[in-house]
Order: sequence, then structure tokens, then C-alpha cells
Amino acid sequence: MPATVPAAASAQPAALDDRRGAIMRMDWTQIKASVASCTSCALHARRNKTVLGVGDENADWLFVGEGPGADEDAQGEPFVGQAGKLLDSMLMAIQLKRGNNVYIANVVKCRPPGNRNPEPGEALACEPYLHRQIDLIKPKLIVALGKVAAVNLLAREATVASMRNKVHQYRGIPLIVTYHPAYLLRNLPDKARAWEDLCFAVDTMKGLQNAKGETI
Ligand code: URA
Ligand code: SF4
Repeated sequence: MPATVPAAASAQPAALDDRRGAIMRMDWTQIKASVASCTSCALHARRNKTVLGVGDENADWLFVGEGPGADEDAQGEPFVGQAGKLLDSMLMAIQLKRGNNVYIANVVKCRPPGNRNPEPGEALACEPYLHRQIDLIKPKLIVALGKVAAVNLLAREATVASMRNKVHQYRGIPLIVTYHPAYLLRNLPDKARAWEDLCFAVDTMKGLQNAKGETI
């Protein structure tokens, strides 16, 4: 290392690599403890409860939202408020149920104040946790709920309208994009499009399961 590089400038990236590496080796018990005590971004300061995720840790289906809102922050579980009720009905409409072959997570595990979008630095700080969750769950299909989830998982900027109706890939796992349930509560006409997306997701899942000789 050149003598002109101050020690502090090189220490931080190494520390970040160490953190990511440590998270990538965690089992579920360790992830739960690590998230519960995480202070790696500013969102830790105002949270009540961390919200790691909920459901079947071996699920075929993984739904990913943006981040906890007020209800989730109070209860420590994702999608338990109004948007969550709609998500539960969407799941029911395709014969799925929270916790039963379904896991639900978010891009950030702590509530952004006032329900603002997570900032890029916050999403980046939290990303290793979602990455590790996905490695452990090994879902057959990921459904990104809304733009924040899609943009963070696919690491590119685009609109939901342009990303839906396609099978993308997240580290080799098929990924479908649809509208966020909170958006659908405010934009009822797009509910029909979300229903098309769910049907597309079911068909995609059937193809994936049939490829491996399983049933839905
Ligand atoms: N919105 C989200 O994106 N996630 C939740 O958990 C709740 C609302
Ligand atoms: Fe840690 Fe993620 Fe919470 Fe930020 S949002 S403090 S990175 S758990």
C-alpha cells in the first residue's frame, strides 16, 4: 500500500468486506440476532422493532417489499398493516398463505421515518441480510413488490411498468416484478394488472415445479 494512503481510508472498505463476509456465513439464528442488534445504518436510531421477515424458511415463494411501516415497526413482522391485508388477499387469491411455502421479507429491516423510501446507502447497508436470507431459503421464485424492491434486487433503475411481465433473474433465481400493495390501495385500476402479474407468477412457478417433477 502506498505510504500516502491514510490508514483510516483503507480500513473502512476492509471492515465492510468483513461484515458482508460474516453475514454470508450466518445461519438463521445468527441472522436473527445480528439484525435485532444491527446499527449499520441510520435507520437503527428510530426503530422500535427490527423486521427480518416471516414465513417458511424453505419456501418456494419469496415476496420482497420495501421496508417496515408503522405497524410492522411496532409488531416486528412484515406486511401486517393495510398493505399487508391486501398482500394476504393477493396470496389467498392464488391459493397461498403467509407462512405456508411462502416467505415475506423487505429490502430494509428497520422502518424509514415517515415511510419514506430507504436511501441507497441504507438499502446497501442492509443488502447482505436479504442476500443471505435468499441463500438460506433458496426460493424457486422471487416476487418483487414495487419499484424499491425491484430496483434493489435487480440493481438497475427502471419503472415497475417496464419490468413487469418478464422473468428476470436474481443470482440465478427467477424474479417477477409487480406493483406494491400500498400503491394498489391508492391506484385501484392497476389491481387488474397486479392480478395478471400474479397469474403470470403462478404459471411461472408451475413451469419451475414441473421441471423438477413437483406439484404446486
Ligand atoms: N410495506 C412494505 O414494503 N413492507 C412492509 O413490511 C409493510 C409495508
Ligand atoms: Fe441494520 Fe438494515 Fe436496520 Fe440498517 S436497516 S440498521 S442495515 S438492519
